[in-house]
Amino acid sequence: MSSDLHAASFGAAAEAYERGRPPYPPEAVTWAVPSRARRVLDLGAGTGKLTRALLAAGFDVDAVEPSAPMRDQLAVSAAGAAIFEGTGESVPLPDASVDAIVCAQAWHWVDPARAVPEMARVLRPGGTLSLIWNIRDHTEPWVAALDDVLHRHTRQEIDTAPPVGTPFSEPERAEFSWRHPLNRAELLDMVASRSYVILLPETDRQALFDSVLTVLDQHNLGDSFEMPYVTRCTRAQLP
Ligand SMILES: C[S@@+](CC[C@H](N)C(=O)[O-])C[C@H]1O[C@@H](n2cnc3c(N)ncnc32)[C@H](O)[C@@H]1O
Repeated sequence: MSSDLHAASFGAAAEAYERGRPPYPPEAVTWAVPSRARRVLDLGAGTGKLTRALLAAGFDVDAVEPSAPMRDQLAVSAAGAAIFEGTGESVPLPDASVDAIVCAQAWHWVDPARAVPEMARVLRPGGTLSLIWNIRDHTEPWVAALDDVLHRHTRQEIDTAPPVGTPFSEPERAEFSWRHPLNRAELLDMVASRSYVILLPETDRQALFDSVLTVLDQHNLGDSFEMPYVTRCTRAQLP
């Protein structure tokens, strides 16, 4: 199945995405965006999980997102942001118009060969490009069991410490551990919002949900629990 089809699939599950996916810890946002920045581009903004954190931190935010259903959610959840249709390869903003770019859980969908020059174009001199991923901490046995179930159909290998390259500086890296409280319905929404699950036949999707609930039962987890995450961050700067 093509990567483009996977990347385009998110819109079909925009509401489940908003309910089930985790936010980003404030310390990661603080690390990712220099406090001197005023205008920040949220690339691949989705339903606005990071956009809201950027607005709350006081930045002026341009949110770029290719999927129309995701942008519809974004318009409601992050009304203070300027919202644009676009991609990492083609950003509808002028040259040197933002102080910082943050791309959360989305850089693996872009073609870096085309997106890196595009990031350099829209950033002002000295601006930063930060890439963020929330990764489930599968050193906890129930999370490892959950990930085995989730990866039964497909495993998308994501490089969460990717190179950035010219004209950016050598990237700096940081990690933040934290826990996200959620319930069973929200966990199933998180599963339903994964790109390959959106594209599964209905019977396979139901079987996957049953397997996820079985993992919770086997590990004596009730309706409410905490998902451990490590937020992995990369930050590179323009000269
Ligand atoms: C996993 S979601 C992350 C959304 C949001 N940043 C968040 O953290 O919740 C990935 C997003 O990347 C978007 N996307 C897919 N291909 C893209 C591209 N080439 N450029 C920018 N965004 C893209 C998808 O539409 C989707 O909204």
